[in-house]
Amino acid sequence: MYRALIFVAVVAFATATPTLRSEDNEELRFDDNFLFGVASAAYQIEGAWNEDGKGESIWDHMLHEHPEYTEDRQNGDVAADSYHRYRDDVKIVKEMNMDFYRFSISWPRILPNGDLSLINAKGVEYYNNLIDELLANGIEPMVTMFHWDLPYALQELGGWANRHIATYFRDYADLLFKTYGNKVKWWITLNEPQSFCRGYSGDHFLAPGVEHPGVGEYLCGHTALLAHAHAYHLYEETYRAKQKGEVGITLNSFWYTPKTENDKNAAERAIQFWLGWFANPVFSKEGNYPQVMRERVAANSAKEKLRRSRLPVFTQEEINYIKGTADFFGLNHYTTNYAEEGEEGKTPSADRDAGAIITQNASWPSSGSDWLKVTPTGFRDLLNWIRNAYGDVRIIITENGFSDRNTTVDGILLDDGRVTYFEEYLREMHKAIYTDGVKVFGYTAWTLIDNFEWLHSYQERFGLYYVNFSDPSLTRSAKKSSIYLGEIALTHVVPSQGVQLIASSILLAAILLRMCIFP
Ligand code: NOJ
Repeated sequence: MYRALIFVAVVAFATATPTLRSEDNEELRFDDNFLFGVASAAYQIEGAWNEDGKGESIWDHMLHEHPEYTEDRQNGDVAADSYHRYRDDVKIVKEMNMDFYRFSISWPRILPNGDLSLINAKGVEYYNNLIDELLANGIEPMVTMFHWDLPYALQELGGWANRHIATYFRDYADLLFKTYGNKVKWWITLNEPQSFCRGYSGDHFLAPGVEHPGVGEYLCGHTALLAHAHAYHLYEETYRAKQKGEVGITLNSFWYTPKTENDKNAAERAIQFWLGWFANPVFSKEGNYPQVMRERVAANSAKEKLRRSRLPVFTQEEINYIKGTADFFGLNHYTTNYAEEGEEGKTPSADRDAGAIITQNASWPSSGSDWLKVTPTGFRDLLNWIRNAYGDVRIIITENGFSDRNTTVDGILLDDGRVTYFEEYLREMHKAIYTDGVKVFGYTAWTLIDNFEWLHSYQERFGLYYVNFSDPSLTRSAKKSSIYLGEIALTHVVPSQGVQLIASSILLAAILLRMCIFP
């Protein structure tokens, strides 16, 4: 009992300490038609990696071959077992009052060979069941067609470095529209091509783990843009009139802030090489890769005595074909970086081509991920940058979230760090919308449940619900952040700090009472 009281006193202090770093703390309201949702991805939660006819993906393959690539030698073979527990997942999406659930379809679960030679009926059925369960609970499905798990069979043909993969993607998209399009109205073609194309530069051991820096990531990006455009045009020509849905793409971006007054150009280059790489071809008026990118890669390639630029060239016809192929801009955003003049990265590589040194400030509040600092004002800056670069494009935040680690109380149910993160980022997004006029129409929290965080495996937790991975039943338990965000999704109000203190006190009283009853 004595120990329990100390614990409560510690938690009470932590909860009562003002955590908001922004100046403002008043109540904020989002319009009634603003959408709230929560996201996940197939490889990170489904498990059942080889069940019911699923084919091997590049992540299955890489981590079976190289368990040492992940922090704790684990992989997504079982993950949170959502393949069998999807009803539990839908239940908690509902508990959080979310308007929609963003999940991804595993390409090799539907097409084990990557192409149409074999359609896996069990895989098709799994997503039909998931979609039906969502709709029965009043939740809109938002489908990501590709969240990094390419069929390994297509990797054997070169994966995204092979331009023909774009046509395979078109076939896969066709099957998805045909099969689910009467029920799914929100489609995201690709998730973070900037990240998955790093799997061809050997920078990080992202699947497929191909090491061709300065070439591989650009080839991958080129194919990915064509693939995205194929899916968009297909929907436009064949499905839109009947199905009346929307097709977009999800790009991610840091906010890059100049380290000093003299680093403004470096910061602009950094964002052009990261976000502009994919956003410019799709969302700008002129289309094509950003000019600074074309010029710098061509110049560096010439210095390397190459006969052509390492950045592939689009024909004018292709530029026109890719331009304007999105009904909305899906944005994943987590944190801010400093950019300064200088060069870093392998020679050659996209990082070196960008000509910027990327760092963070050690004093920015940290998370469970070394790359993720809590820097909410960068969110507003980034949204304004997008509006300035691409005009009044409709934006939906498709991911935003905070990680903690297994070892601290924060990683378990009283995740105040995550609550603070959501509060501050929502406040900055609110300013971008209602003060600056950026057209953001929805917000998606990453992520529904603790899951397989790629190379950091189960050590970094981003979930709104806790998953006990050592317990065979993989029970999902609500964290404080899920209650917090669930209330916001229901009321469309970010409460003032005063109201939050009252809510925290009630929560503490409940904990205290529980501890007295079960000391
Ligand atoms: C973006 C990716 O889409 C997602 O898969 C990942 O878990 C989060 N970032 C957090 O790193």
